[in-house]
Amino acid sequence: MLILVGFLIGSFLEVGAADVGVASTPPMGWNSWNHFACKVTAADVRAAADTIARNGMKDAGYTYVNIDDCWEGTRDQRGKIQPNEKFGDMKALADYVHARGLKIGLYSSPGPKTCAGYEGSYQHEEQDAEQYAAWGFDYLKYDWCSAEKVYPRSQMPAVYKKMQDALVRTGRPFVFSLCQYGYDRVWRWGTSVGGNLWRTTEDISDHYDRMSVIGFGQDGLEPFAGIGHWNDPDMLEVGNGGMNRDEYITHMSLWVLLAAPLLAGNDLARMTPETLDLLTNPEVIAVDQDRKGVQGRRVAQEGPLEVWAKPLADGAIAVGLFNRGESSNPVTVNFEDLGLGGSVMVRDLWSHKNLGSFKASYTAEVPRHGAVLVKVR
Ligand code: GLA
Repeated sequence: MLILVGFLIGSFLEVGAADVGVASTPPMGWNSWNHFACKVTAADVRAAADTIARNGMKDAGYTYVNIDDCWEGTRDQRGKIQPNEKFGDMKALADYVHARGLKIGLYSSPGPKTCAGYEGSYQHEEQDAEQYAAWGFDYLKYDWCSAEKVYPRSQMPAVYKKMQDALVRTGRPFVFSLCQYGYDRVWRWGTSVGGNLWRTTEDISDHYDRMSVIGFGQDGLEPFAGIGHWNDPDMLEVGNGGMNRDEYITHMSLWVLLAAPLLAGNDLARMTPETLDLLTNPEVIAVDQDRKGVQGRRVAQEGPLEVWAKPLADGAIAVGLFNRGESSNPVTVNFEDLGLGGSVMVRDLWSHKNLGSFKASYTAEVPRHGAVLVKVR
């Protein structure tokens, strides 16, 4: 039986399809870019791992500790990629993260240079995949960047598939994260090149306007997400300081309804208890990680007021009431829009409170730029 299962898994992986097993729910973890950008060091990565392991984030589901751009050094005489002096021993770093019961990721580009101008994997795909596996990495974010200069866009799927094949040949499971900013409707072909997640947009920033344009712009992409392959509206900015609490509640509520990967992008070792609460609310995270794996969508809109819904495995529906306006407003969800009749039980997920039973609709007062996230059944 075991041999048969092994064979089936093996042949499945050989065709280069997404390794569903590593991302059966949207990947969760941390990534260095949004806060540290190119200043990131191995010490920052170790501090992130230490923090996740002891502050409740690991228990909440945060697993991957991901180094973004700027870890790369030069290649040795045989062409092997080396880290730069800020990173030193990559194997030791991977061991350190694994010893805390976490997984570790890194970053490269199919082009000659990464977006920040560091060494990319162009013409070294096989060698780099082997090196990442030998160091013990579990996740690769592969960022188009300068590939734009050496490949026509039409070759993009083949270029991503080439790295996926190289990763599969190492025999080590990798989460494969496609980063090409949503070019060429990647959601239509991302799975076929082995992508477990693919960015659907250009970069997020720590501003309400940017976050909300990206988040509320995801409607219509829900048919392309599912178990093992997710739309990625970019990493979290929660706790980076550019948005207020209501805006970060909108950010988290929207990302969980979108079944988005949840990669914290703040300085974990120095965050406030309030930020930790926003990142680790169990009932909110459960919406994102729901095993049905359905991405939510907009079900109603009235000017700046929006209602989004995500069906859950237990038959309930997670519903977000959003106010994109500049002053507090009541926002109403009509149960008809959710296909529900009779009396409907409503539970507030951020505050863990049963709100009671309602007929026809539920209305909440939602602050400017804020959100209320409920579960209805
Ligand atoms: C691009 C990506 C970002 C980040 C930077 C690193 O802009 O979209 O997420 O990885 O490159 O240089």
